[in-house]
Parts: sequence; C-alpha cells; structure tokens
Amino acid sequence: MNSAKNAPQPAKLTPNMGLKHRNSFGLDSTAELAYEISSSDQLPRLVEELGNQKLAWRVLGGGSNVILPDQLPGATLLINILGQELIKSDDQNTWVAIGAGVNWHEFVAWTLDHNLPGLENLALIPGTVGAAPIQNIGAYGVEVGEYIDNIEAFDSATHAFVTLPQAACQFAYRDSYFKQHPNRFIVTKVVFKIPNAWQARLQYADLAKQFSEQKNPPNAKQVFDAVCAIRSKKLPDPKVIGNAGSFFQNPIVCNEQYELLIQQFPNLVSYPDTPGKRKLAAGWLIDQCGFKGKRVGSVGVYENQALVLVNHGDGKATDILNLAKSIQEEVAGKFNVQLEIEPNIL
Ligand code: EPU
Repeated sequence: MNSAKNAPQPAKLTPNMGLKHRNSFGLDSTAELAYEISSSDQLPRLVEELGNQKLAWRVLGGGSNVILPDQLPGATLLINILGQELIKSDDQNTWVAIGAGVNWHEFVAWTLDHNLPGLENLALIPGTVGAAPIQNIGAYGVEVGEYIDNIEAFDSATHAFVTLPQAACQFAYRDSYFKQHPNRFIVTKVVFKIPNAWQARLQYADLAKQFSEQKNPPNAKQVFDAVCAIRSKKLPDPKVIGNAGSFFQNPIVCNEQYELLIQQFPNLVSYPDTPGKRKLAAGWLIDQCGFKGKRVGSVGVYENQALVLVNHGDGKATDILNLAKSIQEEVAGKFNVQLEIEPNIL
C-alpha cells in the first residue's frame, strides 16, 4: 500500500491570522503562523518541522484564559480536534472520550442530554475541553480533575503520544502536571469517568440559595440552569465585554496569617482549604482596595465582580498587566497577600 496515501492532511496554515475573535479578552493580536489542527495525527510531523526550523510555538485552545501580545511570533497551534464518544458503561461509571477542541459548555450540555449528570456545576465556563484540565477549571465546589479518567496528549519532549491517568495529572486548585510543564504537552483527547449515581452538589452558598424555597432536591438540569443564571449575573459575557473570568487565583495562606488578618479585618471572606491553610476571596481583597468598577483607559475592573478584569474595547495586554500590577501592589500593601495572575501570559 502506498504510505503517502495514508499520510494525514497537513494542518491548515494561515499566515498573519487576526486573533481578536479567538480570545475572550478581545485582544487584537496577530499570529505570525496560525496552524489549525483538526486531527491529532497532524501533530507529530508539524511539531517536528517546527523544531527543525527552530520556530517557537504555543497552543491556543478557546483563548479564554490567555493574555495575548500584539504580535505572536512563530507558530500558534489552534486545536480544533472534535468528537464526543460514549466508550463504555459498567455498574458504577460511564466513560466518554471528548476531542480537545470541543467547546466546554457544549460538552457539559451534551452530558446532560445523554443522562450523564455530574459536570453541571461547571456550566458556562468558557474555553475548550482540552484546556479545561490544564488549569483544572473549577466552580461551585466541583473541579474538572475529579471527573477525568485519563488524558491523551502529544508529548513534544519525546515526540510521542502519551496517555496520562488521572493520578499522573497532579490536579490541584487551578493547577496540573500540564500547567507545571508549559509548552510540552498538546492535549488531544480527554476521557471522563462519570459516576452513574448522582446527587446535586450544593455546598456553595450561592448555589444552595437558588433552591432554598424548593421542596424537592433539584435535578441536574435545574442545577445547570441555576449555575448559568448565577454566572450570567456575576460575570461579564466575553462576547460583550472582553475578559478572562477570574483574573487572579484565590490566595491560600497559612492559618497564622489568616488569624492575623481576621483580627484586623473581621469581614474578610475566606474558605477552608487543606489542613493548616485557608483560601481567601481575592475578589473581596481587591474590592476592599476600591478597585471595583474602576476604569483605566480601555481596561478596568468589572463593576459586579472585582476579581474580573475587563477590556472595554481596544485595550492591550500591557494595559491589562499594568492594571493588574497596581492591584497586586495595593493588595500586598493593605493585606500583605500576594495575588497570582490566573490566565496565561503569552
Ligand atoms: N467578593 C466581594 N467583592 C467582589 C467580589 C467578591 O466582596 O467584587 C466577595 C463576596 O463576598 C463573595 C466572595 O468574595 O462571596 C467570593 O466571590 P465569588 O463567589 O464571586 O467568587 P470566588 O469564590 O472568588 C471562585 C472562582 C470562580 C468560580 C467561583 C464559584 C477562583 C479564582 N475563582 O470565585 O472561577 O466561578 O468561585 O465557584 O477560584 C474563574 O476561574 O475564571 C472563575 C470564574
């Protein structure tokens, strides 16, 4: 058989591609060489060629957690690998394999259509399935890592596909093995393991409140709708106002520091964390420094949620980062707490 016949179609290349509509901050960035990856088998050859040409490259998923510069030199890999497949079911769990390019929220809706509840607390998070495990997206008491069985990725260090089981992914609060090894793995497929038994997870006060007057416990679709409603109220729609969700992580401090802070600031909002530690609400800290709704040129802090930085129009990465720096300085000065930026700065 002629091997050339079986060779995968090369990834589609577009030089100087505008990315304004491919990043949720709406930053007007231009990718020097944009490669659209529609199938994982395009990756080995492309990564090899980029290596031979000594070209820098990076992956862009849904563009919902990145801050892009005006120019992105080298290659930008846009992952459009689709596919949603029910693999198997046993007494306890159901496994589904999802392409990295599938839109996250559409996947969550798909699970409910297929009677596979569990991910509804993560509804309406922007981005793709392949990006979700990188920062271990989480909301309303649920983190995606809990539901991941394994991840298929192309490892650019060894030039081979790998399958990482959940334990190897080292999921933690907004963190994973992939995030710890930037620009090494290209996630191509995520296999989820969804327990067949289901119970609504309503430990977050915001969510529980939605059902406080309802006699019977909510079903998964009701939880999904409630999460969508809360998020729409609190977080700006990136199609209307550019943003990347929470701009800072909620900082984790030791109990000693927490005790000092709560004495000085009795209204401090915090959550229990691992033993000996406490997670502080970064939004509260920033709000207390008077930033909520503040605008600096084309960028600012969202009026309903101080944890979200927004682009009102033609803001640039540098404008956002300057504003972030002044927030970090004020928060460090007032509370002696260092805020870490959550999105990836390219
Ligand atoms: N708060 C204020 N002022 C503000 C914002 C918040 O005082 O301007 C206080 C409020 O008292 C509120 C508390 O801070 O109760 C926490 O705020 P909120 O519940 O809105 O957000 P969060 O807990 O800080 C986290 C995630 C969100 C996720 C929500 C719900 C991080 C960095 N953020 O926010 O994730 O949707 O919990 O689970 O962990 C994201 O990562 O992009 C994201 C939106």
